[in-house]
Amino acid sequence: MNTLNLKMSIGESVTLYPELVKVYMDYGVDFCCGGNRSVKEAIERDTDYVENLIVDADKAMAAATQFSVDSKQLKLSDFTTHQLIDRIVREHHGYLKMELPIISELMFKILMVHGEAHPELYKIHQIFGGLKTELEGHLVKEEVLLFPKLSEGGSDCRALIEELEDEHDGAGEALHELTDLTGHFKVPEDGCGTYQLVYEKLKILVADMYMHVHTENNVLFKRFV
Ligand SMILES: [Fe+2]
Ligand SMILES: [Fe+2]
Repeated sequence: MNTLNLKMSIGESVTLYPELVKVYMDYGVDFCCGGNRSVKEAIERDTDYVENLIVDADKAMAAATQFSVDSKQLKLSDFTTHQLIDRIVREHHGYLKMELPIISELMFKILMVHGEAHPELYKIHQIFGGLKTELEGHLVKEEVLLFPKLSEGGSDCRALIEELEDEHDGAGEALHELTDLTGHFKVPEDGCGTYQLVYEKLKILVADMYMHVHTENNVLFKRFV
C-alpha cells in the first residue's frame, strides 16, 4: 500500500497522487504556491494536525488505488479504455455539467451583495466565468470528438490530445488563481451562507478537477500518445 512520502516535494505528491489534493485542502496546506517545499516542511508549517493529516492521506491513497468495479478491486490503470471513458463522463463531466451553472448563479449573487466590501470578488467572478466557458467547450470536444475515436482504437488523435492537454493547463492556472484569490477558500467574517456555499463548492471543484485531469492526462491519454 502507498503511504505519504514526506521527503517528496508537495507539488510532486499531488501530481502523483491527486487524491491528496482534498486532504491538503481540508487541512489548509498550500500545495500550489510553494510547490517545491517537501511534504514534511509544508505540512509542519501549515497545520497543527500533522499526524491526523498523515492518517487521512494514507486512507485517501488506499481508497484511490483500490477502486471497486463489479466487486473486483481495480486500479484506474487496470480499467479498460471504455471503463475509463465511462467513469470520466459519468463522474467528472456529469459533476461539471450539474455544478458549473449552480456556482455561476450563486457567484453572481454574492458579487451583488458583497462586491463592494470584498472587491476581490470581481476578479474571482471573472476568472470563474472564463473557466466555466472554457470547460464547457472542452467537455464537448472530449465527448463529441475525442472519446468516440479513442473507443475505436484512437488512431490519429495526437494533435487533438495535445490541444486538450493545453486546455487542462489553462484550467489548472485558473484554479490556482481562484485558490489564491479566495485565500484558500477562507470565507470572510461578514460572509453570508451563500458566500460560504460558493467557497465550499469552489473547493470541491478544484479537488474534482485534479482527479479529472489526472485520469485523462496520466491514465487515458497516455495510452494513445
Ligand atoms: Fe474531461
Ligand atoms: Fe479534459
